[in-house]
Amino acid sequence: MYQRCIECGKTYEDDEIVYRCECNGLLEIVYDFDKIEVDKEKFKNRVFSVWRYFELLPIKNREKIISLKEGGTPLYRCRNLEEELGVKELYVKNEGANPTGSFKDRGMTVGVSKANELNIKVVGCASTGNTSASLAAYSARAKMKCLVLLPKGKVALGKLAQAMIYGAKVVEIDGNFDKALEMVNELAKEGLIYLLNSINPFRLEGQKTIGYEIADELNWEVPDRVIVPVGNAGNISAIWKGFKEFYELGFINELPKMTGIQAEGAKPIVEAFKKGKREIEPYENPETIATAIRIGKPVNAKKALNAIYESNGYAESVSDEEIIKAQKLLARKEGIFVEPASASSIAGLIKLLDEGVIDRSERIVCITTGHGLKDPDAAIRACEETIKVKSLDELKKLLSS
Ligand code: F0G
Repeated sequence: MYQRCIECGKTYEDDEIVYRCECNGLLEIVYDFDKIEVDKEKFKNRVFSVWRYFELLPIKNREKIISLKEGGTPLYRCRNLEEELGVKELYVKNEGANPTGSFKDRGMTVGVSKANELNIKVVGCASTGNTSASLAAYSARAKMKCLVLLPKGKVALGKLAQAMIYGAKVVEIDGNFDKALEMVNELAKEGLIYLLNSINPFRLEGQKTIGYEIADELNWEVPDRVIVPVGNAGNISAIWKGFKEFYELGFINELPKMTGIQAEGAKPIVEAFKKGKREIEPYENPETIATAIRIGKPVNAKKALNAIYESNGYAESVSDEEIIKAQKLLARKEGIFVEPASASSIAGLIKLLDEGVIDRSERIVCITTGHGLKDPDAAIRACEETIKVKSLDELKKLLSS
């Protein structure tokens, strides 16, 4: 197992701390599958979680693993939504069911375990909220110091509360996520922190298990399409890597179309896709109610666009209004409460069905990336006011209305 540049192919040892290649290309982790002994049956007998796939993850010493029992999230068949939208087979993979309430835990259990193997004492990240909540939790368990940089006033309340209670050094900056990321990048370059943003390829290895789990749960019959909310663009790249590896290992015979959804006010990847390009033009002032994906300069844009093009997928954007509508629809039709960024996958599905890009006979999995309670303010704002009554009679009337 080693690190390899996706641009020039230069390789680096797995214990070398580099976040980018000399040529500035992004790095990915590569395995020699001929030397790894795995088969589907071996997995089946293990607990359904990230570490079920230990041999395909970049940690050598099991004793170094820092875990809060992440992954193994539910894949819900959504029959009410199927009926509502007129689609044949729709699933939601609910990543809000992870220990700190988002898919980031998959990345952090691997990223922080790697840091532990490397004997790292100080970790850090920039975040729109979920990455910081997750890193704060895992680093606490690993007895590491943790620094998180957040865009002031733009982080949902639940996420801020998490980072604080887990004991991270929480710094709010005047500026957006992209600015915060530049700052932690500098600290990482100087060796002052071990960076656990998704530029770190070890973290993405944990997140690829979303792809593994979907294939595993659907009995090795992959869906036609996987729809993913996109911000810094690591997750869609990681999920695609997961599917590709299972394909290479012969566990699955097909690959899904990776479909990325961004918010209207922060959609550089969608714009690049629609122009058939592989380079993005950054947004200086990204804006959306889905604060988790309020990102103008996605670090993993190249990987994400590769995933979308290679898989014959698609990229689309949705408005804040469409996001909130989808959030309510998912909660009210299926009992699944997700944060606004997560609902963008459902909003994207609805839009792409209307546009005729997605066929109603497809087998579709939408990834919902974070729990609804992360952002209680957004949920309350999205709903009608609560009802006030003055008497039992009024209450009875309410029931009959
Ligand atoms: N959904 C949620 C709930 C997120 O928190 C994020 C990213 C994404 C989707 C997008 O994932 O960046 O891999 O494309 N949140 C990061 C954070 C940026 O700091 O918590 P991506």
